[in-house]
Amino acid sequence: MRAMVQTEFGGPEAVFPQDLPEPVCGPRDVVVEVAYCGLNRLDLVQLKGPGLLPGFRLPHVPGMDFAGTVVATGSAVTSIVPGDRVTVDPTQGCGSCPRCSAGDRAYCVSPRVLGGNAPGALAEYVRASAQSVIQIPESVPLTAAVTVPTAFATAWHAVHTVGSLAAGETLVVHAGASAVSLAAIALAKRAGASVVAFAGSDAKQAAANTAGADLVLPNEAPDSAKTVSDFTDGAGADLVLDHVGTETWRTSLDCLGIRGRLLLMGNTSGDQVSFSLQEVFHRGLKLLGTGGYSSADFLAATSACFTDGLCLPTAARFPLEGLADAWDVLAARGTIGKVVIEP
Ligand SMILES: NC(=O)c1ccc[n+]([C@@H]2O[C@H](COP(=O)([O-])OP(=O)(O)OC[C@H]3O[C@@H](n4cnc5c(N)ncnc54)[C@H](OP(=O)(O)O)[C@@H]3O)[C@@H](O)[C@H]2O)c1
Ligand SMILES: [Zn+2]
Repeated sequence: MRAMVQTEFGGPEAVFPQDLPEPVCGPRDVVVEVAYCGLNRLDLVQLKGPGLLPGFRLPHVPGMDFAGTVVATGSAVTSIVPGDRVTVDPTQGCGSCPRCSAGDRAYCVSPRVLGGNAPGALAEYVRASAQSVIQIPESVPLTAAVTVPTAFATAWHAVHTVGSLAAGETLVVHAGASAVSLAAIALAKRAGASVVAFAGSDAKQAAANTAGADLVLPNEAPDSAKTVSDFTDGAGADLVLDHVGTETWRTSLDCLGIRGRLLLMGNTSGDQVSFSLQEVFHRGLKLLGTGGYSSADFLAATSACFTDGLCLPTAARFPLEGLADAWDVLAARGTIGKVVIEP
């Protein structure tokens, strides 16, 4: 089969098309013919190196998010049959450690993540454990389904499982047209919350607005904390989602109301911040790290999206051999929604 194989760390030139053997189905596995693979910023980070997950080795086939059709099932698989249209939770887990048994595959003792440290979906076929497979209803096109997995599962974990966002509360998101932020906006509106989004261009502000944000501000808006305060009748935000890091940290703290919760989920602009402990404890702020989603988060997020017709815009679509152009688009900070590869 054709696959894109990363042979070293670097830029897009480190990934080459190669012919690889087709994956063989184990008893509890399925093999999926990949129709579409959605890229994540994480793919870009890992391309530059070093590998992010234990057990990562070169050569490596990237690609965590995909949608396609099952072509083979293992002897012990009864719930899925060839021909089923599916997407897959890329976080596979070992299936037997205490964390996997509790449904928390993200913190498995020997994590196996498709496209992370196991062969991913920038290929014609990919092997996955049957328990990680989610059926896609006929009403949902594969082009829409492929935009859902990591962005919505990550956003669900942040906004609901860690952030406990309630109807009537106000969420502030940064980088409002990024994949995860667009998903968070849609989920927050679905939950009956109000959303204020920051975004870095007119087109990104329009996308955040279309996703449902009630108030959209440019990144450089003056007195943005005062604007958020006015929007919330002086209370300040209940929850802030920040995956930008250094550049947005100050604004995140300033926008929060008393006992507000800050979701820390990424560091795209830098990793180091400083703050006054007194400010945090006097105001009763809660600083919450939000990492890998659980299998329950993945199921809840995909079910909600497939039932309610939620998905992300497709920023651009490329054939498998166009991967280098796709990386460039992703790296250029201009994308709105998902960059998708068609193997
Ligand atoms: N904790 C987890 O489990 C988890 C899971 C998935 C993703 N993440 C993290 O969440 C973040 C967002 O992921 P994503 O896939 O939604 O990203 P994305 O769609 O590629 O969007 C990234 C956005 O970040 C903003 N940004 C700010 N500073 C930037 C910089 N120096 N370079 C590039 N962009 C910058 C830009 O928005 P503006 O131009 O509007 O400012 C950009 O559009 C990443 O840091 C990713 O690693 C974390
Ligand atoms: Zn495990």
